[in-house]
Amino acid sequence: MESISKRIQNLSESQTIAMSQKSAELKAQGKDIINLSVGQPDFHTPDHIKQAAIDAIHNNYTMYTPVAGYKDLRQAIADKLKQENGLDYSWQQVVVSAGAKHSLSNALLSIIDPGDEVIVPAPYWVSYVEQVKLAEGHNVIVPTSIEQEFKLQPEQLEQAISEKTKAIILCSPSNPTGSIYTREELRALADVIAQSKQTIYVLSDEIYEYINFAGQHESIAQFPDIHDQVILINGVSKGFAMTGWRIGYMAAPLEIAKASAKLQGQVTSGACSIAQRAALTALNSDKSFTHQMKEAFQRRRDLVMEGVDQIKGLKKYTPKGAFYLFPEISDFLGTSDGNTTINNDSDLCFYLLEQANVALVPGSAFGSPENIRISYAASDEELQEALRRMKTYLDQLR
Ligand SMILES: Cc1ncc(COP(=O)(O)O)c(C=O)c1O
Repeated sequence: MESISKRIQNLSESQTIAMSQKSAELKAQGKDIINLSVGQPDFHTPDHIKQAAIDAIHNNYTMYTPVAGYKDLRQAIADKLKQENGLDYSWQQVVVSAGAKHSLSNALLSIIDPGDEVIVPAPYWVSYVEQVKLAEGHNVIVPTSIEQEFKLQPEQLEQAISEKTKAIILCSPSNPTGSIYTREELRALADVIAQSKQTIYVLSDEIYEYINFAGQHESIAQFPDIHDQVILINGVSKGFAMTGWRIGYMAAPLEIAKASAKLQGQVTSGACSIAQRAALTALNSDKSFTHQMKEAFQRRRDLVMEGVDQIKGLKKYTPKGAFYLFPEISDFLGTSDGNTTINNDSDLCFYLLEQANVALVPGSAFGSPENIRISYAASDEELQEALRRMKTYLDQLR
């Protein structure tokens, strides 16, 4: 361990990946595990996108790619942002990377100096805080509650800002909560940012854009007064069921896009040629697949809500997007089934994994230890069965 850098020693393993691995292990041992811990659509990439990748290989898209991505892909992303989101970006402001996770880390490493503060509302997606640590920044975690649908309030933002604040990370639609900020709520946060004495960047993670049951997607980049402070992060992973292809992007002020490309040029080079061609086809094709997938998630959201309604003690609200429910479990803390005592969220998840054979993720992974995350990226049958089992075993806790 001594030879491993402090930077890496200080990094936590992704708990969501750990939970998925644990449930895969139990499955391999023959246990009938229903895995509701996954963070990806349970759909396959549409055939026409797969075909674009096959064609790309035959057409010899096999060499190094330009560091910031193929120009036509960057232009297609700029066009998408204009047509679908009303946002003005030139293709030079777009940088294509190996997934949205990579775009986020490029952005953070490009703007954060040691000691700079980054405001992260909790619950947060697991990698934000670890990436801030890697950039030697300081996380300023601001807890939000289920009563406020886990959305950061402008007063909370105002209070969290200090002279060291460099950035804030927002995620809408959110993993793990499924919350979505409305235009008015984003405007109110933008007001606080615009009024701040120093330049505060907003990393706006919009990877779940297309899985939105509330209506139109709203980006905080739409407000002209802070547009030049927003680093928009998105990609094809969730909306086109392309998590394994590893294509994400940022759209950012030109100097940040250039800095990110400079970093990427020394670390990974341009993203995979074949995956970029596939992503171009995804962005240019009609969105009927995406729409059908969204409808399936909405139906499952309702199904899970109905099931959770039958379970006494789980406090919840209605998520508006993504594919997660994030109920509060405080009523179960201190309970027991006679053998196992539930002292925290991890105890509850392990109890459900071992007794009910249902894999979930403890909320502490997302900085919110009184919650659990249920992913409904699973079939209707699996969801119904998982909820039946969860009820059976949660009812035994008293
Ligand atoms: C909120 C959020 N942002 C970013 C990502 C990363 O996306 P990608 O797979 O494109 O790196 C995920 C994936 O789980 C996510 O949930």
